[in-house]
Amino acid sequence: MIQLIRGFKDILPGEVERWQQIEKIAASRFEDFGFKEIRIPMMERTELFARSIGEDTDIVEKEMYTFPDRKGDLITLRPEATASVVRSYVQHKMFAKDPVQKFYTIGPMFRRERPQKGRYRQFYQINVEVFGVASPLIDVQLIFMLVTLFTRLAVADLKAHINSLGCPACRPNYRAALSKFLAAISNKLCSDCRRRRRRNPLRVLDCKVPSCREVLAEAPSIIDYLCDYCQEDFAKVQEFLKKLQIPFLVDKRLVRGLDYYTRTTFEIQTGSLGAQSAVAGGGRYDGLVKMLGGPDLPATGFAIGLDRLAEVAEIRHSEFIRMPDLFVAALGEQSQDKAFEWICQFGRQGLVAEMDFEDRSLKSQMKRADKIGATHVLIVGDQELQEGAVILRNMLTKEQTLIPIKEVVDRVKTYIKREAQ
Ligand code: HAM
Repeated sequence: MIQLIRGFKDILPGEVERWQQIEKIAASRFEDFGFKEIRIPMMERTELFARSIGEDTDIVEKEMYTFPDRKGDLITLRPEATASVVRSYVQHKMFAKDPVQKFYTIGPMFRRERPQKGRYRQFYQINVEVFGVASPLIDVQLIFMLVTLFTRLAVADLKAHINSLGCPACRPNYRAALSKFLAAISNKLCSDCRRRRRRNPLRVLDCKVPSCREVLAEAPSIIDYLCDYCQEDFAKVQEFLKKLQIPFLVDKRLVRGLDYYTRTTFEIQTGSLGAQSAVAGGGRYDGLVKMLGGPDLPATGFAIGLDRLAEVAEIRHSEFIRMPDLFVAALGEQSQDKAFEWICQFGRQGLVAEMDFEDRSLKSQMKRADKIGATHVLIVGDQELQEGAVILRNMLTKEQTLIPIKEVVDRVKTYIKREAQ
């Protein structure tokens, strides 16, 4: 048997409804805040991700699915969406009409990470990006939107971790201090970190190797090196999070795994997930639009890990699983033919209707109706056809109603819809 690829997964009916529901609630929440959907391709030129995310990141160095297409151009299955949304914003000159643009997009991402619970090679994200707003209040609004969305989805044990990664003005001082620290402990670092220490010292802070994490606990933090502007900016974020009663924690160790971040960055973590506790992450990336050939415009955003969110969202099954409205139990060939016509018409009218195609006994058809959770059963046999009326049985109340055959579709639909109100 051919099995699926390691780190990939099927999302089966039963589970998929939970995903649809989350996507629907998230999209409508974002639309309430003025965001519009954008759809971007699943593949881009490798260069786009390498330049945006950073050559020295784990994602670009080790995790991208990159291959030459038939003409030899290097293309990559998207490991994240931000770079593509920026590319699209720049390519279509969306800033010309109005620099302020707010987007959301939902879809699969690909990273060749080591698979484990909550970490897949194809995973899904709900992304939100805002262009053209420099005020830190928009970062607050993003965090507010995320936390209230997760509360709506009953995610337990939530915490917003926030940090500031400074700007091009304060980074060089910090970089120098960090390089000095890393030089002193370099013999305790893994080979990746020893290499990255010179090229991109901030990336060392993101290393997942436990022995590195241990020695890096003492590393200087960028938050102690922020320039006045960044300090003020970060203070405002905290002030407004408090005003909006969003619990948060300033996490000096939060550096994020992508190079494009500036100033406020954040992760929403939940205690219910185990080791992979980040259910969303994001932050400001003020230099990226310019770096990808656009004007010097600020930007900020986040991505929710949908696989992880689906695992911890406590939405009840009954809230979204659609049970069949109707099972048509038909006895005899003529009734079967009629039943088939009806289930097609019911489907067209928005009722979920099922039947048995095997001509089994009434008893076994009733059993099946019960098993699939049909709320009503329509019973039709030769006698009913002759008498011109069929029985509609409510499976919960056991109430039975006689319905004239000529008006079956309309009458049953009105009956079931009225009951549902
Ligand atoms: P990220 O932190 O790499 O950020 O990913 C965001 C979220 O995606 C994570 O918090 C996690 O929930 C989920 N995630 C990441 N990798 C995996 C995986 N292998 N398996 C399952 N879930 C995963 C970004 O991707 C940025 N583009 C976010 C952003 C948008 N920043 C600004 N705008």
